[in-house]
Amino acid sequence: MPKKWFHLVAVYIAVNGYNSCLSFYGVNMDLKNKVALVTGGASGLGRATVEKFVAEGAKVAILDLNEDNAKEVQAALGEENVQYFLTNVMEEQPVMDAIAGIKEKFGALHIAINCAGTGYGGRILGKEAPHPLDHFKFIIDLNLVGTFNVMRLAAELMDKNEPDEKGEKGVLINRVL
Ligand SMILES: NC(=O)c1ccc[n+]([C@@H]2O[C@H](COP(=O)([O-])OP(=O)(O)OC[C@H]3O[C@@H](n4cnc5c(N)ncnc54)[C@H](O)[C@@H]3O)[C@@H](O)[C@H]2O)c1
Repeated sequence: MPKKWFHLVAVYIAVNGYNSCLSFYGVNMDLKNKVALVTGGASGLGRATVEKFVAEGAKVAILDLNEDNAKEVQAALGEENVQYFLTNVMEEQPVMDAIAGIKEKFGALHIAINCAGTGYGGRILGKEAPHPLDHFKFIIDLNLVGTFNVMRLAAELMDKNEPDEKGEKGVLINRVL
């Protein structure tokens, strides 16, 4: 199977910078009528991404745990433009279900952007005790394993797209890592 279909962009992206970022990586993609998945799309950088993509004409699926915030985004941008899937990105089946839901609602997937994540700052050896191992494991599970989980399952659906004139089927962007 040819591997050149997917641009893997692991980079922090400024809130309004997706178009320029896509261009920077040689992905000059017109977002009109494209379907994008945004994890963490209910808040922060993910939400800003959803708003930007809908404004550019894309349909967007939000995969997030925060139902209240996600429904607020959906109500603001229109149910015809935004579909919400209550999803924990760290788990396999919920992400598979969300990907199946995207296929059913929008018919395809062209762009997957990972914004679901969180941060934790601490010293390896704190004043009272060593850094809690559970905190470190949680961040790895959410920011790294969750991101990979979404990438692999999103790629599986993108693989069903017809290649464009450059032979590309989709774009994966990770701004959590
Ligand atoms: N805000 C920034 O300037 C900035 C800059 C660089 C990196 N980051 C990193 O990007 C990530 C997101 O930042 P933000 O400011 O947008 O945070 P945020 O808290 O505003 O948004 C994160 C979203 O991810 C969702 N989420 C959390 N765990 C989830 C899970 N298991 N499954 C699905 N959704 C989940 C939350 O419900 C929330 O809607 C963090 O890891 C942060 O450290 C943020």
